[in-house]
Amino acid sequence: ITIRQATINDIQAMQNANLQNLPENYLLKYYMYHILSWPQASFVATTYDTIDIEDDEEHEVDNYVDSENGDNKFEDKVQEVEDPKGDPAYIAKGEKIIGYVLGKMEDDPEAADKTPHGHITSLSVMRTYRRMGLAEKLMRQSLYAMTESFKAEYVSLNVRKSNRAAIHLYRDSLNFEVTSIEKSYYQDGEDAYAMKLMLDLDA
Ligand code: ACO
Repeated sequence: ITIRQATINDIQAMQNANLQNLPENYLLKYYMYHILSWPQASFVATTYDTIDIEDDEEHEVDNYVDSENGDNKFEDKVQEVEDPKGDPAYIAKGEKIIGYVLGKMEDDPEAADKTPHGHITSLSVMRTYRRMGLAEKLMRQSLYAMTESFKAEYVSLNVRKSNRAAIHLYRDSLNFEVTSIEKSYYQDGEDAYAMKLMLDLDA
């Protein structure tokens, strides 16, 4: 498993991973906006893998990266291989996105707080790769990049009140603090915790 900076070629696969893992989804151009504006702040976790498409109930094939042109049309990633029983079988082969963190700097000119600070827009790890420390690694990479590249003094994020796993990660593993509760923040009416972590510029 590799953790590396996300590129424009990854955004389609990141969006697919997001659709599989979270109800908060974004247009492709919003991913593009992140990567083009703050290329250092977003990361992906990837692995090289093959997958039998007939067994691909979770549609993980959509998470493969086409490094040539970022196009992730299904046909570009599948290879027809000889099945031992004589049936043609299809496999996808290559670099698969198994987690991502999408980060940005606060760029709203209306924002009340003018100190430079980062924001985690979205984080997720595919189900079969959870509890291996990947989310924590992705977060640490993004937070480090925000201080180093953009002099962020702190980073903020929102998380559903019911999201125990993510709250554990942010509060217990990364030392975020809850700063407020945002009522009915999510489309289905659930409240969000607004969380914040001061970044130590000297660390
Ligand atoms: N229950 C309790 N604590 C958990 C759990 C869990 N299921 N999963 C992670 N944690 C906490 C623990 O403190 C863990 O440390 P430990 O293993 O030493 O106890 C710590 O998080 C680090 O865990 P990681 O292995 O790094 O986390 P993982 O790679 O499994 O990813 C994540 C965690 C991203 C929350 C994953 O469960 C996921 O993708 N969930 C669905 C999507 C989601 O909820 N994303 C966050 C939304 S908020 C936002 O995007 C800003």
